Amino acid sequence: MRATFVTLVAAALSTLVSASPLEPGIIARDDGKTIHVTPGLNAISNAIKDAKKGTKIVIEKGEYHEQLTIKKDGISLVGKQGATLYPPNKYYSNACTGVAATVDPSDTTLPETQAGICIKEHIRVASVENYVNNVSVKGLAVKNFDVNILVIGARNTDIAENSIVDGIRYGLLSDGSHDTTVKNNLVTTSNDTYFIAVCMDNFSGARAIQNKVTGYGIAFCTQTSREVIKRNTVKKHCLGVVVDPHIDGVKIIDNSITEPKNPNKCKDTLIGILLDGASNAEIHGNTVKGHEVPDPGSGWGILGFDDPCVDAQGNPSQSLACLYNPSPSPFTGNVITNNIVRKNTKDIEIFAAAPNVVKNNDCLASTTPGALAGTCK
Ligand SMILES: *[C@@H]1O[C@H](CO)[C@@H](O)[C@H](O)[C@H]1NC(C)=O
Ligand SMILES: *[C@@H]1O[C@H](CO)[C@@H](O)[C@H](O)[C@H]1NC(C)=O
Ligand SMILES: *[C@@H]1O[C@H](CO)[C@@H](O)[C@H](O)[C@H]1NC(C)=O
Repeated sequence: MRATFVTLVAAALSTLVSASPLEPGIIARDDGKTIHVTPGLNAISNAIKDAKKGTKIVIEKGEYHEQLTIKKDGISLVGKQGATLYPPNKYYSNACTGVAATVDPSDTTLPETQAGICIKEHIRVASVENYVNNVSVKGLAVKNFDVNILVIGARNTDIAENSIVDGIRYGLLSDGSHDTTVKNNLVTTSNDTYFIAVCMDNFSGARAIQNKVTGYGIAFCTQTSREVIKRNTVKKHCLGVVVDPHIDGVKIIDNSITEPKNPNKCKDTLIGILLDGASNAEIHGNTVKGHEVPDPGSGWGILGFDDPCVDAQGNPSQSLACLYNPSPSPFTGNVITNNIVRKNTKDIEIFAAAPNVVKNNDCLASTTPGALAGTCK
C-alpha cells in the first residue's frame, strides 16, 4: 500500500524605467508616496514604473487587464473593494514566465505559464543575491492566471486580504524567498482540475495564516522547513496540507480541514494532512474530518510515512523534493497531539521505523497492520 501511495503522491506533485505621472489611469500622485490608479491601459504597471522605493499604489475599484512585475523594494499595492486584476489580451514574457510547470510538461506545444503578480528579485541569478524587499499586496482580487501571485527571490513579502481566484496551476507560489506571509486571503477555484492553492518556497520564514482555501487539488504544499500553517480553513480539496520529504520542523496548528471534494474528482484519494517523510513536525489543534472514500479508494485524516524517495520499481522518485535530495526521508520526531480527526476512512495512520509522538487525538483507532495510530481518546 505504501509504495502505491508514494507513487500516487509523486505523480500528483510532479505534474509539479520611469513613466510620466500623467499616464492614463493615474489620477493623482499626492505626497510622492501614494499613487492612485483607476482603470486604463497598463494603469497599474505604469504606476509601478513610476513608483519609488516605499510608494503605496492604491488601486481603485474596476477591472485591470495586465501582468504586474514588482522588483522595487517597499512597494505596496492596495486594492480598494472591487479592484480586480485579470490576464491581459496578450502576455509578454517577464521574470515569472515559465517558472511554474504547465499542466503537461511533456507537451512542448503548450504556452509557458504566466503570473498575474510577479514579485521577483532584481537580477535573475541562480542563487539569490539581490532580493526584492518589503513588498506587499493587499485587498486586491486576482483572477484567472496560470499563477495568480508568484514570489521569487523576495524578502519580507506580505500577501494579505486578497481574493485569489481560479489560478490554474497555483493561487500563490513562492520560491527561493525569506519571510513570506500569506494571511487572511481567500484562495478559491470552482474548476476541479486546478492544481495547488498555496505553495511556499524553500528558504525560510513561510507563514500561511487564517486563509480560506477551497476547490483546489492541493490546498497547501509545504516545502519550507519550519513553515507555519495556522488557523486556515480548507474545504473542497483532494489533499489538504502536504508536507514534502526532507522538510523539517513544520507547524500545522488550529486548522480546519473538512468537507473535501467528491473522491471521484481526486483519483479516489482524499487526505487531510499528508506527512510524506516529514521530520519534527508539530501538529496540534486541527480538525480534520470527512475524508471518506469507498473501496477501493483511500481516505485518511492524517497520514505519515517514511519516504524512500524511490518508486515501487526502485526508480528515483519524481517528486520535486526527492529530485533535489534523493536520499530516503524518514518520518521521525513528529508530534501529533490534540487534533480532532473523525469521519475519515482511516483517521490517523503512521508507517514509520523511527519514533514519533502520536497521542491525545480524538480519533478512531486504526486496525491496519503495521500502522501506528497512537492513542485515540
Ligand atoms: C524592510 O523593512 C524592514 C523593517 O520594516 C527594514 O528594517 C528594512 O530596512 C527594509 N529593507 C529595505 C531594503 O528597505
Ligand atoms: C477547467 O479548466 C480547464 C483548463 O483550463 C478547462 O478546459 C475547462 O473547461 C474548465 N472547466 C470548467 C468547468 O470551467
Ligand atoms: C530550493 O530551490 C532551489 C531553486 O529552485 C533549488 O536549487 C534547491 O535545491 C531547493 N532546495 C530544496 C531544499 O528544495
